[in-house]
Amino acid sequence: MNFKIATLPGDGIGPEIVEQAVKAMDAIGKKFNHSFEFTHALVGAAAIDATGDPYPEATHKICLDADAVLFGAIGDPKYDNDPKAKVRPEQGLLGMRKKLGLYANIRPVATFPSLIDKSPLKNDRVEGADFVVVRELTGGIYFGQPRGRSEDLKTAFDTSVYTVDEIERILKLAFEYAEKRNKRLTIVDKANVLGTSRLWREVAQGMEKDYKHIEVDYMFVDNAAMQLIQWPKKFDVLVTENMFGDILSDEASVITGSLGLLPSASIGLETSVFEPIHGSYPQAAGKNIANPIATILSAAMLLESLNLLEEAAAVRDAVNASLEENFVTEDISKESAKSTSEVGDWIASKISG
Ligand code: IPM
Ligand code: MG
Repeated sequence: MNFKIATLPGDGIGPEIVEQAVKAMDAIGKKFNHSFEFTHALVGAAAIDATGDPYPEATHKICLDADAVLFGAIGDPKYDNDPKAKVRPEQGLLGMRKKLGLYANIRPVATFPSLIDKSPLKNDRVEGADFVVVRELTGGIYFGQPRGRSEDLKTAFDTSVYTVDEIERILKLAFEYAEKRNKRLTIVDKANVLGTSRLWREVAQGMEKDYKHIEVDYMFVDNAAMQLIQWPKKFDVLVTENMFGDILSDEASVITGSLGLLPSASIGLETSVFEPIHGSYPQAAGKNIANPIATILSAAMLLESLNLLEEAAAVRDAVNASLEENFVTEDISKESAKSTSEVGDWIASKISG
């Protein structure tokens, strides 16, 4: 079959890691007789430099026209250190999420048996940990109005907003994930303090009766941050609002041993976007040292979304083989580190067989 894939490499290590995922997909195309037509588009600081806009209309059109989007990373220290910058690369990512209606970010966290010793946590805590973070992605404090500064610039404010419809939509997806998995759903909020969290709880309690066979539990976010690290195995599906999901999913990545391993899927109303959960890692940009696996596994999630299940499994198998054979980048093995492109080539040739 023929598929149109938009590739948005973005900033920092984005171009290097996306290139490796494209190699893996090309190998899949050859092996399984598909053709993936890749169209590159600009986003983030790279897009600001070229057009002044972090998510240009031309990029949006390419995404809308694609069967799926493969995304690298966004962010540049030039902007991080300039709080007064009028246009920021992150606005490109947020603009893309809003315009494509990417309301749910799915972040699976599972330990790799071959990497169990790389986790900073004790083996018996992390062995067999396997859960999914479902993060709401287009609402909450990331987007709520009003936001900004007072006239005298002495006060800044952000607003967290959620509607019943937004909450229902994300909770429905989370219940469905729990249904496909181990039938346990943890709803994370701060209902002891925030009105939006109390609305989440109200909506969730109303939905429980439609999912009687799912075991639901409610957890405050501070407690969840602690339990995730202490008892990662007790989680199956964890659903939460935008900001809490951002923080908890970075925390969860520690369980697997490297942030460079975790993929994600952002499910959209128009099209879906697949991206590693890590950022643009500017210190490594252009050095060919970053771990491409999170992006290659994001490509596996992309293939699953196109219903190419055998193809996705072939990508996962090749990634697992590289980890088992310790053919890995420096974040996983300092002693015998391979470069980004060496790992990408190895995985692509493993797929080709
Ligand atoms: C993520 C990132 C983004 C976010 C940043 C780059 C705006 O941290 O995708 O988790 O906060 O959502
Ligand atoms: Mg984040």
